[in-house]
Amino acid sequence: MNPWFSPGTRVLVTGGAGFIGGCLVRCLLQETEAYVFNLDKLGYASDCTSINALSINDRHILLPVNLTNLEATKAAVKESNPDVVMHLAAESHVDRSIDGPEAFIDSNVKGTFNLLESVREHWEALSQERQEHFRFHHISTDEVFGSLGSQGSFSETTAYDPCSPYSASKAASDHLVRAWHRTYGLPIVITNCSNNYGPWQFPEKLIPVVILKALAGEPIPLYGDGENIRDWLFVEDHVEGLLLAVTAGKIGETYCIGGYGERTNKKVVETICTILDELRPQEVSYSSLITKVKDRPGHDRRYAINSQKISNELGWKPRHNFEIGIRNTVIWYINNLDWCEKIGIKSGYQGNRIGTLD
Ligand code: NAD
Ligand code: DAU
Repeated sequence: MNPWFSPGTRVLVTGGAGFIGGCLVRCLLQETEAYVFNLDKLGYASDCTSINALSINDRHILLPVNLTNLEATKAAVKESNPDVVMHLAAESHVDRSIDGPEAFIDSNVKGTFNLLESVREHWEALSQERQEHFRFHHISTDEVFGSLGSQGSFSETTAYDPCSPYSASKAASDHLVRAWHRTYGLPIVITNCSNNYGPWQFPEKLIPVVILKALAGEPIPLYGDGENIRDWLFVEDHVEGLLLAVTAGKIGETYCIGGYGERTNKKVVETICTILDELRPQEVSYSSLITKVKDRPGHDRRYAINSQKISNELGWKPRHNFEIGIRNTVIWYINNLDWCEKIGIKSGYQGNRIGTLD
């Protein structure tokens, strides 16, 4: 771990009760002696079971705050008095953004604006020494770049071209963060990452959907022709990239983080079925459950990331290849079906198809 997170460093993580934020919070608690202030509205996808289960969690301070509330956000920033802000809080599911885009504008655009204003006030009042070390790290997505054809990859210089309400709201938040750097001098770093997978992901995203539907013996929904491509990255590798970017990245710069894990959705689903055939054999292969369903409106065809900049400048590379990461993930879900059931009940999400415009 980079020594910049010296003992006592105060890190404000937003969205730390979510999938990636949770992985980051666990890593900060286990591998540094930083204080972790976890600002989260505790929405449908939130869960702190994994953090609460750690033996070392006395440096975790949960701040149940909605970023859409400016006064509450200002108070949370004041209370946490951060040296570093890592901003992950966002509505994150594309299908939900199709059915209800307003929540995405509220959290991802207005929420980021409120956070930037609260943090700017805090940063301007810091001593010169603390100001010099301060960082605001905005965690974004490759979806802001739109959709690729069969060739090429996204990089830090790719023009923005978002297609869904989710990716448009994330693009807007990226622009706000850059503007706060250029206009007010706020020391920012931005990362844009590809699809994450791993333990504790809310069961509405492709990989947990496939595992849970298969184990329940239900049809496994494959959108459209199943030939859309994503670049899969194990969540712990993403978190390692985030920590490198926030501690060693250059102020004002963007770093793209990808998994070197391009796969068609069809291939991903078939791989999971093969692993399940081995671990939980049934008379008929799980692949017989794969069912092509209506496509997602505005469905991006292909994402792929060129990670050379973070690799060359900061020495990042993913530690897990897809075969290892997906196997571990399938095993984790098999062993944690009770958690999936609990969060399904708590959130009211029962695996139903959303985002079709029907
Ligand atoms: P998630 O949905 O699992 O978690 C998001 C968390 O943010 C939730 O706990 C939610 O309650 C919180 N949140 C949302 N709106 C908020 C608000 N207004 N105020 C306070 N808290 C709020 O999402 P995730 O998959 O962990 O993604 C985290 C971040 O990483 C997001 O910014 C997302 O855009 C980005 N990202 C995700 C992926 C991916 O594959 N999951 C890839 C690249 C980038
Ligand atoms: O690329 C990064 C993005 O990855 C993040 O910014 C988002 O927060 C994250 O949700 C993810 O977005 P995707 O839309 O790519 O992820 P999702 O898991 O929803 O879908 C992955 C692919 O699988 C996509 O092409 C749609 C398809 N799909 C999805 C589901 C849920 C299916 O075929 N069937 C499904 O049931």
